[in-house]
Amino acid sequence: MDIMPLKKNIRRIKALFFTLRYPHLAKEGLKNILGTSYYKGMLKKSKIENKSLDQIINLCNEIRLLNFDVRCGNVSHFELLTIASMVATQKPHVLLEIGTFDGNTTLQMALNAPDNAIVHTLDLPSEVTSLIQPILEVDLKLVRDKQKKQRKYQKTSCEKKIMQHIGDSAAYDFKAFCREGLVDFAFIDGGHSYECVRSDTENVMKILAPNAIVMWHDFTPDFQGVFTYLNEISSKYLLIHITGTNLVYYKKQQ
Ligand SMILES: C[S@@+](CC[C@H](N)C(=O)[O-])C[C@H]1O[C@@H](n2cnc3c(N)ncnc32)[C@H](O)[C@@H]1O
Repeated sequence: MDIMPLKKNIRRIKALFFTLRYPHLAKEGLKNILGTSYYKGMLKKSKIENKSLDQIINLCNEIRLLNFDVRCGNVSHFELLTIASMVATQKPHVLLEIGTFDGNTTLQMALNAPDNAIVHTLDLPSEVTSLIQPILEVDLKLVRDKQKKQRKYQKTSCEKKIMQHIGDSAAYDFKAFCREGLVDFAFIDGGHSYECVRSDTENVMKILAPNAIVMWHDFTPDFQGVFTYLNEISSKYLLIHITGTNLVYYKKQQ
């Protein structure tokens, strides 16, 4: 006798009992299963090529990290290491970050940039009332975060390399970032709505120096706006999704 159908039916009966006994847990479990398969499906549909960090840059350069613990709103440790390695390799003179938050990435970018580099970083004031582009609820929480006012780069040896700008990126005059020359390295991590990431990207693309690097954070189906927009522009720009991160990389050719 084939016992496989019997085993299958026992599993089904067990699942039915579990669902009847713990309906909330069963609902959560189903949501997770559906969420994971949706997530995997979306990633499979992505048109952006994946590459590991060592396929993009030579990892022989020394990097520096300081006070780099991460909290909700920051990039991960591996993403910090990735950005620091990119900066150490590229040696950019003019850097721009959209979305300072608590200045964790700002600090690591400044630490790894040449001594005479300048890091421009832009964030909204916490008390913002109106914005040009739509803002996500999750972004609004980070805008209003109280702790972020204590920026991590303050009172470090790098502080003199950093210029803090306050304003809405959609309304900001991007020429303010070019006083020392065009931008060699840009990190886009401000608002995550489709409209916001599109506006930031279009503005950044206009002020790039030859061979400049642009990186975006939050390339994941969880951030539909970023995910959709970057997939759309991947037919125009050669974008690379860095394996093990939510970072996308682009190097301007001349
Ligand atoms: C995810 S956090 C940035 C994290 C930071 N780059 C890091 O690596 O630690 C996003 C930041 O973007 C800022 N932001 C959101 N919308 C913005 C806008 N329209 N203009 C400027 N900054 C914005 C928020 O205030 C928040 O501090």
